[in-house]
Amino acid sequence: MNTIDPQQRVLSGMRPTGRLHLGHYHGVLENWVKLQHEYQCFFFVADWHALTTHYDTPEVIEANVWEMVIDWLAAGVDPQSSTMFVQSYVPEHAELHMLLSMITPLGWLERVPSYKDQQEQLKEKDLATYGFLGYPLLQSADILIYKAGGVPVGADQVSHVEITREVARRFNHIYGREPGFEENSQAAVKKMGKKAGKLYNQLRKAYQEQGDQEALEKAQALLKDQQNISVGDKERLFGYLEGSGRIILAEPQALLTPASKMPGLDGRKMSKSYSNVIDIRDKTEVIETKVLKMQTDPSRGRRTDPGDPEKCPVWQMHEIYSDSSTQEWVQEGCRSAGIGCVDCKRPIVEAVQKELAPIRERAKNYESEPDLVKNIIIEGSEVARDAAKLTMQEVRQAMGLAYR
Ligand code: TRP
Ligand code: SF4
Repeated sequence: MNTIDPQQRVLSGMRPTGRLHLGHYHGVLENWVKLQHEYQCFFFVADWHALTTHYDTPEVIEANVWEMVIDWLAAGVDPQSSTMFVQSYVPEHAELHMLLSMITPLGWLERVPSYKDQQEQLKEKDLATYGFLGYPLLQSADILIYKAGGVPVGADQVSHVEITREVARRFNHIYGREPGFEENSQAAVKKMGKKAGKLYNQLRKAYQEQGDQEALEKAQALLKDQQNISVGDKERLFGYLEGSGRIILAEPQALLTPASKMPGLDGRKMSKSYSNVIDIRDKTEVIETKVLKMQTDPSRGRRTDPGDPEKCPVWQMHEIYSDSSTQEWVQEGCRSAGIGCVDCKRPIVEAVQKELAPIRERAKNYESEPDLVKNIIIEGSEVARDAAKLTMQEVRQAMGLAYR
């Protein structure tokens, strides 16, 4: 049986769209590096998701997959502390996606905001495809197959986690109602022992009759601590508590990653599509050139013209990288024309160099040993696949497909 605690599991994925930049590092990657020590983490390359929009450029996918994995490793995602894998190495994701498609109303997918938005934004592409409509459902399968309770994502992905919850709820509602659910649940309550069983029944009543949220949480904590009932009974009692069927697929929560404040070299948001990025593996000279070329407050046309940091992306960098005394030096020096823009950029060049030097160093090892990188992914994918298979057994059983 699948003895996992969804609250301890975190899963996230990224489409392989090319080299990662400082914005990714300060937003997503630093967060992953932290989470891997706090949860059981699964991080994967969503290569099938990349094909939903880039189906006509299959030749770039492979290179992007390995580049991205190297970026993760270089940033400190550690295969000893997390499971790193590639989506297409775990074909069970596709099976679950297909099975979930049986119970997913079209309207749910059509209403996901990213569906229309992306079609608008990528006008030159025909995204009126079956695969693209199913994008969020494939993502649901990614999440549900690991019973992940937490999904670190940016704001643009929150609606995908929401639909995942709805799909899980619908699945549990339809397939969690085994024949004799009520009787099986009552029998499971007895197995908890007199005292715990009585308390469970009281709390369940308080929740179901008065909507007492605290009682629900207490009962959930009580169930979690039960040692002498099986996992199947536990899932049954979690569902019985809330008045649904047995909980087979856990409902995940988004762990919102704050939007990156990293400005691009031109002052717009740092983004590959604006070609205004510093890649996390950029070489020393490249970093220096890029920072020195950064846009500044246009009113500082001459060295003697005073400026306003609020109108300058270099200042936004100081907000991220500099201590308060350096920040004061910038504020005062810019407004009084006491310092020049090149002076002002020097501490930024240094701070970025300092941050990226160890990352580049780690990357070097992996760049020179592609087999090492591949093996990390092969091993991670095996671990992921074992976990996915356990869930699929339960799903097949629930959907009447256990006769193989
Ligand atoms: N759609 C996500 C993105 O574009 C990538 C992704 C795919 C994902 N499957 C996932 C993220 C599962 C979190 C969980 O960023
Ligand atoms: Fe920007 Fe610094 Fe130049 Fe002021 S001095 S405009 S903050 S780079």
